[in-house]
Amino acid sequence: MKISVLNLTFCIISMHAAVYDFTQDYYSGHEPLEVLKFLIIDMPSKLKDNNSLIFNNPLNKSVNTLGDRAHVTEGERVLLAYACAYKRMNPESSFEIFLKDGAANYQVVFDDTQTRGMQKYSLKMVPKRVLITGCAGLLGSALTKALLDKDFHVIGLDNGLCGKKSNLADIQDHPHFQYYSHDITKPFDIEGPLDMILHFASIPSPVMYYKMPLETLDVGLLGTLHTLDLAVQKNARYLFASTSEVYGNPEVNPQPETYFGNVDPMGIRSQYDESKRGAETLIKLYFEKYGIDVRIARIFNTYGPGMRLSDGRVITSFIESLLHDTPLTVHGTGQQTRSFAYVTDTVEGIIKLLESNTLSCAPDIQDRVFNIGNPHEFTINELAEAVVKLGHETLDKKITVTHVPRFDSTDPELRRPDISKAQALLNFKPSVSLADGLNRTLDYFKNSQDYKE
Ligand SMILES: NC(=O)c1ccc[n+]([C@@H]2O[C@H](COP(=O)([O-])OP(=O)(O)OC[C@H]3O[C@@H](n4cnc5c(N)ncnc54)[C@H](O)[C@@H]3O)[C@@H](O)[C@H]2O)c1
Repeated sequence: MKISVLNLTFCIISMHAAVYDFTQDYYSGHEPLEVLKFLIIDMPSKLKDNNSLIFNNPLNKSVNTLGDRAHVTEGERVLLAYACAYKRMNPESSFEIFLKDGAANYQVVFDDTQTRGMQKYSLKMVPKRVLITGCAGLLGSALTKALLDKDFHVIGLDNGLCGKKSNLADIQDHPHFQYYSHDITKPFDIEGPLDMILHFASIPSPVMYYKMPLETLDVGLLGTLHTLDLAVQKNARYLFASTSEVYGNPEVNPQPETYFGNVDPMGIRSQYDESKRGAETLIKLYFEKYGIDVRIARIFNTYGPGMRLSDGRVITSFIESLLHDTPLTVHGTGQQTRSFAYVTDTVEGIIKLLESNTLSCAPDIQDRVFNIGNPHEFTINELAEAVVKLGHETLDKKITVTHVPRFDSTDPELRRPDISKAQALLNFKPSVSLADGLNRTLDYFKNSQDYKE
């Protein structure tokens, strides 16, 4: 029987050739015998069209030829054998074979050397392809660079709204980096396979989200919807940059992942908080409906080189005042607390979350949510003192601190992550002290265009 009804999705790579990605679930709703016949009869006959193949790596796995899934596991091994045999007999054919497994992607490479008149083949690592939205921002750019250093191929997307082009200057010609200028609130597609999607585009700067409340909701909700659709289409692992703001003004301190939060959905910062809370709910529904491999990072205040001096976040505001010799402005009593993570620590936590293979099997969405931040808690007065001290020691400046009334009554009183889950399951250990991180950040801004302008 010829099977033409199998729901194979593939992408056209030339007029005649296609990529068959067998890591996607092609077989649901089809009889095992149909599937096996498709793999051993229909597919081999398509090899002559230079169709390329992507398999879940079937090598080094003990496959039971009589097991419940043997029609898939053994069927794919037979097809792989057909493909290699075809390539040996037709060395001029241009199709490619890729093997994916949890930790790596491999390409089957056919060498020119011949054994008994036939081509040999070996395995070569190919970079995993990752999409990062918001790639020009503080975290997006730092993640892009960290993943390039780990030999990933990074496709970075940004609309330039609040990131900095200069954050990408040193990698713009990197052979494994591609930049797309696009507004994530509009649907989009990415050519070729994607292994992972990191959705970091957002409007997290208070100055901007007060001015652009609707755009803030859109980027959180529509941007998440579009990237989730892409994750389903590409069968990609999905990591979302959520925030400690989902906990609102917390009644528990520190905040564990199990805390539901205390957010006023009509407060003046609700556009940011609810964009992230609503996005988390969307992710849960996609996880349940499509079974995609999702992870949620609830990121606590992160700072460092790559921020914009005028973004209205507390550390940049203090450093801006220090550089311009104006008093540091504290809103309210300054007894409200925050926990500050240096960017390299947060990036390390996010990459550990992204790369954890054990999480792929976690059946409950709650198991896939992690606080990422630094658990040291400071009052805003203590932060101001630290910046004053730094100004004195490094710039010989004597800056004062002034207090003004709070204009945002929903501004959280307390903020401190409980990171015991990330410590236990991801071995996440933030290590950069506030003093050290502030020093490095001030160093960056002293020489940055933001300050010189
Ligand atoms: N830095 C923190 O303290 C912190 C804390 C919690 C959560 N987060 C989350 O981490 C992510 C990154 O934060 P960041 O500090 O790097 O912010 P950032 O402002 O530096 O970067 C955000 C990036 O998203 C881009 N962007 C905004 N709207 C877009 C759109 N419609 N289409 C495409 N790109 C768009 C911006 O241009 C910018 O480059 C955000 O989702 C943020 O909510 C950050």
